[in-house]
Amino acid sequence: MSVFSSAVKRALGSPASRSSFRTIPQHRLLRPASILRSYASMSQPSFHFSQCADCPVVFAFFEPRTSTWQYIVSDPVTKDAALIDTVLDYDPASGTVSTRTSDGILPFIEKEGLHIKYILETHAHADHLTAAQIYKKSFPDASTGIGKRISMVQETFGPVYGLEPSAFEGAFDVLFHDDQTFKLGSLNCRVMHIPGHTPDHVGYVVGESLFTGDSIFQPDVGSARCDFPGGDAKALYSSMQRLMALPEHYRLFVGHDYPADRPQLYVSTVGEQRALNKHSKAGVSESEFVEFRKTRDSVLGAPQLLHPSLQTNIRGGRLPSRDASGRMWFKIPLTAPPDL
Ligand SMILES: [Fe+2]
Repeated sequence: MSVFSSAVKRALGSPASRSSFRTIPQHRLLRPASILRSYASMSQPSFHFSQCADCPVVFAFFEPRTSTWQYIVSDPVTKDAALIDTVLDYDPASGTVSTRTSDGILPFIEKEGLHIKYILETHAHADHLTAAQIYKKSFPDASTGIGKRISMVQETFGPVYGLEPSAFEGAFDVLFHDDQTFKLGSLNCRVMHIPGHTPDHVGYVVGESLFTGDSIFQPDVGSARCDFPGGDAKALYSSMQRLMALPEHYRLFVGHDYPADRPQLYVSTVGEQRALNKHSKAGVSESEFVEFRKTRDSVLGAPQLLHPSLQTNIRGGRLPSRDASGRMWFKIPLTAPPDL
């Protein structure tokens, strides 16, 4: 039997549901944030806005191939900054890794005079490779960080890819405990364990902003799948309730966006989520949410970049070691009839 059971394969499918789409006017989702300018130097739009006098400046960069929102959050006073959920480009057809996305963001960081202190992950992504090690080369004094339960994900998938426990030693510079606090310049940051999509999932609270990863999506997209190993729809419901219990003006910056007929958006307020989240708005019961997620997740396929992503991301963004001929290889677990 394959190391991937059908449940595991189901668990590792494609992005969240896009059904029952309802358009929310962009001005509503962005209010009262003010877009100050956009940068045409990137291959995709990026935005720069500040939210209030003592809040971080947030730069959002959309990576279209994986529908990922990458963030730079910075202290406007000291310009100390953190990168969150970066993307390393990978073309599965040719087996080619490139740094096209980070090549666009690195000059931006230099132009803005930002001091990168942290390179953070909200969780071990199954749909894109992290560029953490690319940025670590440019900013060697920055610390890579993820929630401490990444060890659970490493223990699950290490054997799948033939990785010994030693492969994970020093994979990340910092393994955050629940509610751990740290400073980013003058900004106060806190790590919030918000499991359900994955067991290791954390959010980063910076002032009155929260970087949610895949723990919640834009109100009209709703929620992420919960059928990865260690995923739990009840836990995600609880995490979403905790997010929606924050002050209503807090801003939630999502890790992906999958719009059907509107531009990609990256931020909403807690109040908007309470009123409009299509899977978990106020009044939706735990049993209703769990039933919806189980039904929806049961028909989702595996993410296209599943195996390359996990093999890279559980090692903090390190690619496989080169063999004697200098080649690198990703492994793909194979299921076949016993007589073949
Ligand atoms: Fe994810």
